Amino acid sequence: MVASGTFGYAREMAGLVDLARLGAILPKTITLMPRPGNPPPRTVETTGGMLNSIGVDNDGIEAFIGRQLPYLAGLPTAIVVSIAGKSLDEFVELAARLEDAPGVAALELNVSCPNVSGGVDFGIDPGACEKVVSGVRKRSSLPILAKLTPNVTDVTVIARAAEAGGADAISLINTCLGMAVDWRRRRPRLGAGMGGLSGPAIKPIALRAVYQAAQAVELPLVGIGGIASIDDVMEFLVAGATAVQIGTANFYRPTVSIEILDALPDALAQLGATRVADVVGTLEFEQQAAGSRQ
Ligand SMILES: Cc1cc2nc3c(=O)[nH]c(=O)nc-3n(C[C@H](O)[C@H](O)[C@H](O)COP(=O)(O)O)c2cc1C
Repeated sequence: MVASGTFGYAREMAGLVDLARLGAILPKTITLMPRPGNPPPRTVETTGGMLNSIGVDNDGIEAFIGRQLPYLAGLPTAIVVSIAGKSLDEFVELAARLEDAPGVAALELNVSCPNVSGGVDFGIDPGACEKVVSGVRKRSSLPILAKLTPNVTDVTVIARAAEAGGADAISLINTCLGMAVDWRRRRPRLGAGMGGLSGPAIKPIALRAVYQAAQAVELPLVGIGGIASIDDVMEFLVAGATAVQIGTANFYRPTVSIEILDALPDALAQLGATRVADVVGTLEFEQQAAGSRQ
């Protein structure tokens, strides 16, 4: 799948990527009302990654259903709509609006965006997370993915809460809260001051989060974070992810997901496997090293 916020509404990518080969497209997160987003600059390159503080700039659910969804629904792949509310009621309202909209395969609840004040609270408080998932669960017949933030002390607590709320799968991770400073000007490099770190720099954090969640919940996991090659994908699968999303890499190599798909059968064969399911969560520890981290 291609990750929310990194593939636009697919129009720009349609000429570059054979969309029929993707598992799903996740358009940019949609909110109830239009949001202008954060002040510029909104992106800055960092070592091994990038910081963004887009601020969920979007035209709101009305415009999404009217203008983007008809196009997306006609594409030859599944559309998983990412939604974010400032309150439980907003999440439920968004789910209600999408319930009868044609062409939506599933909902991803963005309870993890570091750029929306209020939004992130659902991803750091297990009680709030469970309530939001169960609230949407009651209102929606669509499969629900809960997208978690790594910006917590223990991601397994939140993963269990999402499971208890009735999520069908867990996506992790969203970006890691970070900052870049222009010391000569004594200014933050992002207009909003802080933003979300993504790209290869966060892959070890994401792998760790996926591995931990895999030990804590029964739900399928969607691994996200720094994936840019077939090796990255295989690492996530072995660590416990059932599927993956590719984000930042789309910006600098739009065809990356297709290149990875081309390389998948051979990588599976190297482990004596023919199906992704054969390798999911097959990570093994040396007996002695199991408890040691250094
Ligand atoms: C510019 C930018 C915008 C993003 N917007 C969203 C968003 O709207 N909703 C969301 O759930 N994640 C958003 N993300 C996070 C990505 O979907 C993904 O979780 C994260 O970037 C980690 O994956 P990556 O390292 O492959 O990019 C955004 C990421 C970037 C770089």
